[in-house]
Amino acid sequence: MTPLYEGKAKRLWATADPNVLRMEFKNDATAFNGEKKASFENKGRLNNAISTLIYGMLEKEGVPTHFVRQIDETNVEVHKVEILMVEVIIRNLAAGSFCKRTGVEEGRVFSQPIIEFCIKSDELGDPLVNDDYIRELSLATPEDLAFLREAALKVNAILIDFFARCGLKLVDFKLEFGRLAAQPGKIVLADEISPDGCRLWDLKTGEKMDKDRFRRDLGNVMEAYAEVLERVKSATR
Ligand code: TMP
Ligand code: ASP
Repeated sequence: MTPLYEGKAKRLWATADPNVLRMEFKNDATAFNGEKKASFENKGRLNNAISTLIYGMLEKEGVPTHFVRQIDETNVEVHKVEILMVEVIIRNLAAGSFCKRTGVEEGRVFSQPIIEFCIKSDELGDPLVNDDYIRELSLATPEDLAFLREAALKVNAILIDFFARCGLKLVDFKLEFGRLAAQPGKIVLADEISPDGCRLWDLKTGEKMDKDRFRRDLGNVMEAYAEVLERVKSATR
């Protein structure tokens, strides 16, 4: 069997239901647009467990997502969607490319969340774009963008609270959305929410508990992911 799609950290497989896909979490990790590569034993299992608990929590909070159910340690079933080619990044504190672009020191707390749109393209390196680019390139309509902004802010508010209960500060994160194959008028949250696509700092020590441990060679990458899972489990119990 060949997957319908293979990305850097996940594979998508067909199921008996044409509107449902199997999403497999891989152990592969990449950074800096695929320039840096590694594989971590258990990463797929940890990200699946974390993402499954978070999507369950978000659904309970009234956020429509692609999530159907967990199948096993590294697989979930998801509603088939057409992924929007616009990635949404939400920032609460300065870090990563924000600091590089602006010269602002890491850790500055923003007066309100910053939303960025990027084109989902490995080839182009996920470039930052504005509403006019997105309209002109027909990546999404102005109405879609208004919806994405509102949905991203809602998810951010829920996750800030949730991760605070985990003793973690939500610094920034990336969301992807898709149109349901069975109902193309409806856009839902898709992809995953895990330490691969979020920056999470320990509330007490400031320690980085996310993929920056890999990006910056800080060591103990999976130990940090496992600790995030334990805290997420406690907060959803
Ligand atoms: P950045 O500071 O590198 O732009 O990243 C902001 C957040 O988005 C960070 O939590 C990591 C996440 N992210 C992804 O998940 N995938 C990506 O391709 C990029 C660029 C960022
Ligand atoms: N996800 C992107 C990559 O794999 C960027 C990153 O997370 O640093 O290259």
